[in-house]
Amino acid sequence: MIKEKGIVLESSKIHLVSDKIWKVSVFGPDNYRTALISHFLRTKNKKLRKPAIEFAVEILEGYFDEVISNKVAEEALQYLIRFDESVLFPKPANPKFTFIDLFAGIGGFRIAMQKNQGECVFSSEWDKMAQRTYYANFGEIPFGDITKVETKQWIPDNFDILCGGFPCQPFSIAGVSKKNSLGRKHGFEDEKQGNLFFHIAEILEKHRPKAFFLENVKNLVSHDKGNTFKIIRETLLDLGYSFHAKVLNGKSFVPQNRERTFMVGFDSNIFDYKETFEFPILPEPTKKVRDILESKVDAKYTLTDHLWKYLQDYSQKHKEKGNGFGFGLVDLNGTTRTMSARYYKDGSEILIPQKNKNPRRLSIRESARLQGYPDYFDVEAVSMNQGYKQFGNSVVVPLIEVIGEKIVDVLQTKIK
Ligand SMILES: C[S@@+](CC[C@H](N)C(=O)[O-])C[C@H]1O[C@@H](n2cnc3c(N)ncnc32)[C@H](O)[C@@H]1O
Repeated sequence: MIKEKGIVLESSKIHLVSDKIWKVSVFGPDNYRTALISHFLRTKNKKLRKPAIEFAVEILEGYFDEVISNKVAEEALQYLIRFDESVLFPKPANPKFTFIDLFAGIGGFRIAMQKNQGECVFSSEWDKMAQRTYYANFGEIPFGDITKVETKQWIPDNFDILCGGFPCQPFSIAGVSKKNSLGRKHGFEDEKQGNLFFHIAEILEKHRPKAFFLENVKNLVSHDKGNTFKIIRETLLDLGYSFHAKVLNGKSFVPQNRERTFMVGFDSNIFDYKETFEFPILPEPTKKVRDILESKVDAKYTLTDHLWKYLQDYSQKHKEKGNGFGFGLVDLNGTTRTMSARYYKDGSEILIPQKNKNPRRLSIRESARLQGYPDYFDVEAVSMNQGYKQFGNSVVVPLIEVIGEKIVDVLQTKIK
């Protein structure tokens, strides 16, 4: 029970309210009030205390007749957000550096950078389903749309590394050709998505972190005859950062062929263009698909006769035309194709053969393993289709970890 100046708020009542708030306003692109409260509770950043309490008062006043004092609001925060000290992926006990997690998805970068002893001090992801998974694992609700001032204003003044796998759609072959065929512009000319890189550039310019760590699709380098990549590179160099880029394949760590472009740079004012960053040399791939399979999976993952027939017919039609399209029945002793965010549609790019049965899709846990997530990662916060979408969009966690390690090595030369 919370008691002050005659106001009595039964904790049960607050729980009731919290349930309601939980369902209506906690997750989503415009959730900056609850995102801020959860950032305050998680990071204990003193600068967030005042606005967190003010937002809590605003939220609570919508549900109570009583006038809500700051003290009551502060105590109620704990209930409101169902704050719990124990989270699956806590920050390291003695962090060596800080980072921000942009376009956070479900936190692939965060797991890897926390393993490198980093503390996340800000996260942003506008998809409410991805926010749910993120919250289930890190106990923090990411802020929404990073293009908005309401979001960007809460980025702390100082942090060491800006991390982000900005959306690949405008740069991927699929995205480009679809947009071209619709007669629309693409890449940086695309108003809504293409400009996202410039929000990253703006944050770098304003906050001057020591380093950035970016990820994108493989064909970023060749997109628009190399123009897109040239603009990204020149923008970052103009900002006074060094620029290193390399395409690396996640198959060194997981049984999946997943090539991505990684970009890393350091503030030249601090490192005087003399840092000696190098991307890691990756180990020979050893993981096989069978290593990530569950011994028993739900029947829902097996393709229906209808879908299986459709995929076979579709593949046959393309073969006759001389095209290579088709489903990908995997070799259990090999690697899979790249898992995409569209895997939930029919799962045709990665199908697991089964004895005396139609093939099946990967289970959600197997999808998580295919991206290198540990088995204690909570995959239950969202539906199966959302789960496929989230893992299809994700990074290969151990690959991020080894690149991150190299970045931290360089940082260590300047962090006292
Ligand atoms: C390629 S995914 C990144 C996935 C992430 N690296 C992971 O490991 O899960 C890009 C993410 O950016 C998010 N996004 C796109 N536009 C955004 C915006 N304006 N503000 C915040 N997030 C955005 C998408 O919802 C998507 O989850």
